[in-house]
Amino acid sequence: MKADFLKYQAQTTPHPLAMEVSHAKGSYIYDTSGKAYLDFVAGVSATSVGHGHPNVLKALREQSEKYLHVMVYGEYAQSPAVQLTRLLAELLPAPLEQTYLVNSGTEAIDGAMKLARRVTGRQEIISANQAYHGNTFGALSLMNYEERVAPFRPLVGGIRHIDYNSFEHLEQITSQTAGVVLETIQGGAGFIQPVEGWLSAVKKRCEEVDALLILDEIQPGFGRTGTFFGFENYNVLPDIVVMGKGMGGGMPIGAFTASTAHMQLLSNNPKLGHITTFGGHPVIAAAALATVQTILDEKLMEQALEKEKLMRSLLIHPLIEEVRGKGLMLAAMTPSAEITSQAILQAQDEGLILFWLLFESRAIRITPPLTISNEEIEKGCRTLIQVLDKIASKLS
Ligand SMILES: Cc1ncc(COP(=O)(O)O)c(C=O)c1O
Repeated sequence: MKADFLKYQAQTTPHPLAMEVSHAKGSYIYDTSGKAYLDFVAGVSATSVGHGHPNVLKALREQSEKYLHVMVYGEYAQSPAVQLTRLLAELLPAPLEQTYLVNSGTEAIDGAMKLARRVTGRQEIISANQAYHGNTFGALSLMNYEERVAPFRPLVGGIRHIDYNSFEHLEQITSQTAGVVLETIQGGAGFIQPVEGWLSAVKKRCEEVDALLILDEIQPGFGRTGTFFGFENYNVLPDIVVMGKGMGGGMPIGAFTASTAHMQLLSNNPKLGHITTFGGHPVIAAAALATVQTILDEKLMEQALEKEKLMRSLLIHPLIEEVRGKGLMLAAMTPSAEITSQAILQAQDEGLILFWLLFESRAIRITPPLTISNEEIEKGCRTLIQVLDKIASKLS
């Protein structure tokens, strides 16, 4: 299988991990040789309720027996999408009420960018340096890494960048600005949290100039940081919330939510202001609904903070300089990219899945399923510490 994977499936890096997956259950992925791997990554913060959660499987089974795709987004009333968007409205503060369902995070970011332009009639969009919002042209254009975007120019126009956490740069948000797009916690940059008062200062500046604040909750959302949405930790109310990843419980989905007054502008002047064939797909929406209900019923948000404490108490080692992040969105920082890579690769040999962050090469990503047990956390952390011991002994 590995040879065909490398031959026929388009690759994103010259060195994929290429594990041959057999099946996955709970916090474990099994390869075709029968080896079990404890999953500390959750498909990059996506498998929020663990692999094959019975509630998600049941929802998938039941909905797929009723109907699959029947019509493009927005024409027919289909119960899974209706129930899901209604539940999100109940979980979000007013006036965030209407949700547009799409197929991925990046698509939701593009939709939110379009909505900001449509609402304000302005072109300029501001994002942060070191941000990652996805890879379609809109989301890619928000990224300020020249080596990653240069071959794809021209990008979407009218985009400027400010420093995340800079109060001084807020004056660059002006009456020309349609929207400011920020990750609530910067992911690829190294799990950087907003400093005290910064996000609310961004919102205040947006209000002064009538620009919209768009928060990317694709990674911190859906319980990962101890609250349902990450922004609830930082005393700020965005105008548009963008979601994805953990929302689907292992199925592909994205969404953006805004006030009814704003969102209805996508249905007129022009009508069909945003369209998608598969957005709101009944089977995917049913899985997302089951995921949200599971996060609430199993109190996974509260548990994320307890599990963070346990993780932090165990991730103590001379090669771990700092543990960044919140809840189960954690990054163990080693002194070098080389040590981080060795740790990730050797941990995989020892049956523990860890991963890199996009732009911060010293970070070891620790974003397990929210359903991970305390025993599994202890086991995984023990493995990581043993791996770091081995690396340290070779260094000395
Ligand atoms: C913060 C953030 N925004 C957007 C995206 C893009 O989501 P997707 O890969 O579903 O398009 C990601 C994916 O890693 C992300 O972490």
